This record gives sequence, structure tokens and C-alpha cells, in this order.
Amino acid sequence: MRKLIIAGNWKMNKNVTEAKSLTEGLKSELGDIEDVDIVLCPGFTNLPEVAKVIKGTNIALGAQNLHWEDSGAYTGEISAVMLKSLGCQYVIIGHSERRAYFGETNKTVNKKLKAALLHNLLPIVCVGETLAERESEQTFKVVKDHIYGAFKGVSKQQLKRIAIAYEPVWAIGTGKTATADQAQEVHAFIRKLLRELYDETVASAIRIQYGGSVKADNASELLAKEDIDGALVGGASLKVDSFVKIIQEGRK
Ligand code: PGA
Repeated sequence: MRKLIIAGNWKMNKNVTEAKSLTEGLKSELGDIEDVDIVLCPGFTNLPEVAKVIKGTNIALGAQNLHWEDSGAYTGEISAVMLKSLGCQYVIIGHSERRAYFGETNKTVNKKLKAALLHNLLPIVCVGETLAERESEQTFKVVKDHIYGAFKGVSKQQLKRIAIAYEPVWAIGTGKTATADQAQEVHAFIRKLLRELYDETVASAIRIQYGGSVKADNASELLAKEDIDGALVGGASLKVDSFVKIIQEGRK
């Protein structure tokens, strides 16, 4: 049985005061939950404040990105070492917004993944197709490229520490969710790829989150699917109510 993992990707939202109050609200509702892995991924500048508020609870801290080097002349970048020193446990890698706006490729995703693993961060690796790719029936090809590219040189042992987020780009922030069947189809495909690349044991153990306009009213249908083991939530993670409801749906 795979434990659910539900992460909030706050993206470039909230100043430090707002981040603190959102985290305090979430802590009072979710701080004791043990049957779901709950992860908050605020912007870099809010990590220390959020870390302070969730200390001693079951809520984990995650970052939205990292650089693959430990240190050096990389203006504006943040390393795994820096994230670890703030108490980060997780890191999102290869989000489609980073691929689309900041030039990330399967190659950089792979480097970032290896850096995260080296420093004992738990990576959430994002994959997913654009609308044009879905419409031209490229979904499986794109997802396969993302998976093969990201996991190049990653061992079976390391795979155990990774979660994958399937996020169809056309469903992110658009209000359009993939139907539960559409999502399940790709999740099952990802598991099949991992079976081919690794083996049955790791493929059936890895958690695959769905992301793209997850809300309280579609969460239960999505999370009920056999190969959907959690969610990566953007917009609905920015308010206490909506994020708490998604987690409650997952626990039913
Ligand atoms: P959304 O974002 O829930 O706002 O669609 C999800 C994501 O980008 O991770």
C-alpha cells in the first residue's frame, strides 16, 4: 500500500507575513496527520519562516527548484546544500513552468535530480505533455522522454526515494483537470516504464502524484484511482480551506 503524498506548490506567491499566516492555519488543521505525507513548497524567501511554524509537526518542507552544483558563481541560484541547511526535506524538480519559461530540459532535470539525491533531499520529479502534444497524440512519447531523461544513471536504490508528479501542462492553472481516467491511463503508463527501466518491486512502490487544477471537488475521484498516489496542488494550496479539504478527501 503506497502512502498518499499531497504537496502544495505555492509558486511565486505570498510574502513572508502571508506565508506565515497560511502555514499557521494549515498547521492547526493538518499538523497531527500521520497517514498522508503533507509537503509545503513555498518560495525560497519564505522557507525559513514556514520551517519555523511547522517544526515539530508532521508537515514537511519542500523547495520548488534547486541548482545542481553545491556552491559557486551561479548568481541567483540556490543549491541542495542551502536547502538542507533550512530544513528542507523535499524538492520539486522539472516543473513544466520551469521547463517552459526557464529553459529546463531533461538534461538539467537529470542533473538536479542527482544533486538532490546526493544531498538526501526527496525529489518530486514533474513530467507531462502540453495541449499540442496531447492533441497530436504525443502524450506517451513525451512522458517517456521525460522519464527516461530524468532517470538516466539513477539507481534502483535511489528510485525508492523519489516521487513523480504527472502534470499535464494543459491542466495547470487552467481549471481544466484531466479526467480521472485520463490521469490513471498515464500514471499506469509511467509505472509500466519504471517496470521496464527497473523492476516490478520499485515500480509498484514509487508514488505518482497527479497535478493540474486539483481541487476539493475533483480530488476524491482522482485519488481513488489505482495508480494515483497523491497530488501536487498549485492554486488550491494557497488557501487553508481548499488545501485542507483536498487532504480530507484523500483520507476518506
Ligand atoms: P494548479 O497547479 O493546481 O494551480 O493547476 C499545479 C502545479 O503546477 O503544480
